Amino acid sequence: MQYAFQAEVNPTTLATDCVIVGVYADKILSQAAALLDETSENALQQHLALADFTGERNTSSLLYKVKNITSPRVLLVGLGDQAKFNLESLNQATRTTANVLKKANLTQVSSFLVQELATEQQAAAIRQSLLTLGDVFYTFNVYKSKPETAPTLTQWTLAQTNQGEGEAALQQGLAIQRGAYLARDLGNAPGNVCTPTYLAKTAQSLADRHSQVQITVLEESDMEALGMGSFMSVSKGSEQPGKMIVLNYQGAGAELAPIVLVGKGITFDTGGISLKPGLAMDEMKYDMGGAASVLGSFQACVEMRLPLNVVMIIAAAENMPSGRASKPGDIVTSMSGKTIEILNTDAEGRLVLCDALTYAERFKPAAVVDVATLTGACITALGHHTAGLLSNNDALAAELWSAGQQADDEVWRLPMNDKYQEQLKSNFADMANIGGPAGGTITAACFLARFTESYPWAHLDIAGVAWKSGAAKGSTGRPVPLLTQWLLNRAQVA
Ligand code: BES
Ligand code: MN
Ligand code: ZN
Repeated sequence: MQYAFQAEVNPTTLATDCVIVGVYADKILSQAAALLDETSENALQQHLALADFTGERNTSSLLYKVKNITSPRVLLVGLGDQAKFNLESLNQATRTTANVLKKANLTQVSSFLVQELATEQQAAAIRQSLLTLGDVFYTFNVYKSKPETAPTLTQWTLAQTNQGEGEAALQQGLAIQRGAYLARDLGNAPGNVCTPTYLAKTAQSLADRHSQVQITVLEESDMEALGMGSFMSVSKGSEQPGKMIVLNYQGAGAELAPIVLVGKGITFDTGGISLKPGLAMDEMKYDMGGAASVLGSFQACVEMRLPLNVVMIIAAAENMPSGRASKPGDIVTSMSGKTIEILNTDAEGRLVLCDALTYAERFKPAAVVDVATLTGACITALGHHTAGLLSNNDALAAELWSAGQQADDEVWRLPMNDKYQEQLKSNFADMANIGGPAGGTITAACFLARFTESYPWAHLDIAGVAWKSGAAKGSTGRPVPLLTQWLLNRAQVA
């Protein structure tokens, strides 16, 4: 699909397959709809007088061959209550529109929905529209021997009747959309393809394409030398070599402390010797969702040329049972020097992340955010709509929460205080890697918190939101929308 932005367009004379205009609840016409109505000698009003369609949210009505209108089709889309109309209603209307037109046999369409928002909200609306359209039109057919019939629609124009500065926002939206697509493609790729080596190659190709991006890949021998005994305790059970993938984007002067994004990149989580049950185990190919989302967000940040310095670290390994795998009761020493008793080899995410978080110290970060499909307990706590947010810094937590609200990619903060730390007590080492069934998301974060004391840090547990199960099985690309919004906010360009 090609996307374009066009200002000062007249919807009545536009030669396209379908013009998309909004109607508010109680049949109140939007600006573009009113123009069409006038030119067509009230054809829209006459239609609305008879139609069941009243402008409620999630509804639409298609008109053909409207009098004096060049485009053969006009799609009226419900915007809901005009007094409550906001970015979220617009986004919902965009989704409804895309779902309707996805099935239609059209090539190009022009939508006049964005201009219904105030000028200062239009850039955000354009970025959001591209994410939503990208979401609806995403396909993943790489492994089908016969390609499924693709939608015929190839050109989607965001148009407005008045002046507008939408081109920059369109380009940002496209960069974010491509970031989300990268995250989803990586997530959906099977575990026998998407290995730690594959993630490293993907990062390498990004670095090759952009001169402001430097890459370092720590091999297992490098990690041994750095004392990353915790990471290695997971990686050593697999035939696939583990990698610590570090990308460095220099978008601002060297004096600006970098933001560090850390991703859990377990390319398949069998549980190790603490083997998982078989039901839906295939979904553990998505256990690199954190890595995929930080890579996608990093790419978007680079493509948007944000005036920031950003480091991305992916802790990539496969968690397998084997003769070389860690066993419950094993004690390992992390890069920080702290010792860990591995009571459950299925709590492997924190074991690879803690060494990445210690490694992050060398960048003297302004803030570190790690993203991980870390705990099943997070699904119990927050379900599949909201990701978990835990942090040692209230200001950072507030920034991330707001970015999630802005980008329609919600997170909710959970408490994390020293009372929970006691659950990680080990009789034999500095800490255990599990804290029992109570508050599993919190104790996992408490474990990570022991490695992040020297900088502002937040942890996003995306176990419930990174992918969908069942008939719609597939990666969501979350939290690329939140992370990119947060980076835009930090860069103060949005
Ligand atoms: N990758 C899993 C968490 C997970 C499970 C995410 C299901 C999404 C769906 C993680 O490595 C894990 O196995 N966590 C354990 C921790 C436990 C052993 C303390 C869990 O959640 O059961
Ligand atoms: Mn696990
Ligand atoms: Zn895992």
